[in-house]
Amino acid sequence: MKSLLITGGAGFIGSHVVRRFVNTYPNYKIYNLDKLTYAGNLENLKDIEDKPNYEFIKGDIQDFDFVNQLFQEKNIDGVIHLAAESHVDRSIANPLEFVMTNVVGTVNLLNAAKNHWGSNLSDKRFYHVSTDEVYGALGEVGFFTEDTSYDPHSPYSASKASSDHFVRAYHDTYGLPVVISNCSNNYGSHHFPEKLIPLCIHNIKNNKPLPIYGDGKYTRDWLYVVDHARAIDDVFHKGKLGDTYNIGGFNEWQNIDLVKLLCNVMDEKLGREKGASQKLITFVKDRPGHDLRYAIDASKIERELGWRPSVTFEQGLEKTVSWYLENDEWLNNVTSGNYQDYYKKQYQH
Ligand code: NAD
Ligand code: TYD
Repeated sequence: MKSLLITGGAGFIGSHVVRRFVNTYPNYKIYNLDKLTYAGNLENLKDIEDKPNYEFIKGDIQDFDFVNQLFQEKNIDGVIHLAAESHVDRSIANPLEFVMTNVVGTVNLLNAAKNHWGSNLSDKRFYHVSTDEVYGALGEVGFFTEDTSYDPHSPYSASKASSDHFVRAYHDTYGLPVVISNCSNNYGSHHFPEKLIPLCIHNIKNNKPLPIYGDGKYTRDWLYVVDHARAIDDVFHKGKLGDTYNIGGFNEWQNIDLVKLLCNVMDEKLGREKGASQKLITFVKDRPGHDLRYAIDASKIERELGWRPSVTFEQGLEKTVSWYLENDEWLNNVTSGNYQDYYKKQYQH
């Protein structure tokens, strides 16, 4: 029996990872540690919450004593660390929370693992899940490889870069068995509607403006979240200790083209006239420090671990839109209360 701690398991990607591990590895005990911030939602895990190999623990990775005790009590021997503040716009409004959770929280977990594991490191693994945003911005050509120098521009990416450096430092200094992955933008079900794709799905559905920052020519590489969860499984089990793996969708889109495609998919699903939802597109003030383009070279994980995305963007987007349209209650629950305040401040509507 492996005792596996997954942090941030009530969030978007974390819930897909928890679901995959609970269903695939009945011989692992999965502890999902999550603070349940605005982005964490136990509704995301309703389908697996009663499984015997799963336990939810509410807690804050900023609290070292709590985290340290948890390692002893549950005899943790593997960690998949996803808990983070994850939204760039929120990091611009409140950088300190990003330092506290993403940097201090990560170091707390590293210290707890180091204390608990001591020199008994066989079969131990600390997996840190990170982002391609640590590499900064690309021009119109080129790709991020695992050797690209870090050059973060937003408080979010600076905090993730810092946490990546700490994880590597614990490997190099203390011999902690770590592995890191840096992934491109994810999309799929259970994604909080402050990020581009779920925000636009929500607004198209409600005939509200679709806010496009700047000229909309910013480019992101998009990966279906279920494929990311599978990559995380591969890296956790087969990744080389001390190594980094870039994970991407081989799927670059300018924001404006992506939103137009989404409008077309939604028009068809909602029985609207073709082109109706594109009229909602509204260009708004740009994000400060906005990175022009992210693009991942994911050839290492393909070559070494045999991973590739399994769905096309059209397939993934169709599944995603269907999920949101079939899960009104989820969307209504997360867009009440605090969401309204955030939305007003961010978009001044
Ligand atoms: P998310 O915001 O949806 O979820 C984050 C989860 O962490 C939430 O459940 C939240 O309650 C929890 N959390 C936040 N602060 C905490 C704390 N102090 N203690 C315990 N739990 C806390 O994020 P996501 O999009 O699922 O991202 C998960 C991870 O993957 C993050 O580390 C992020 O940097 C990374 N990542 C995300 C993307 C993406 O496109 N979303 C891409 C690459 C990497
Ligand atoms: P986002 O989903 O916030 O992810 P990230 O900033 O981590 O890449 O944004 C994706 C892209 O969409 C990014 O270039 C910013 C842009 N964007 C908009 O144009 N309008 C919006 O309302 C949001 C939230 C994002």
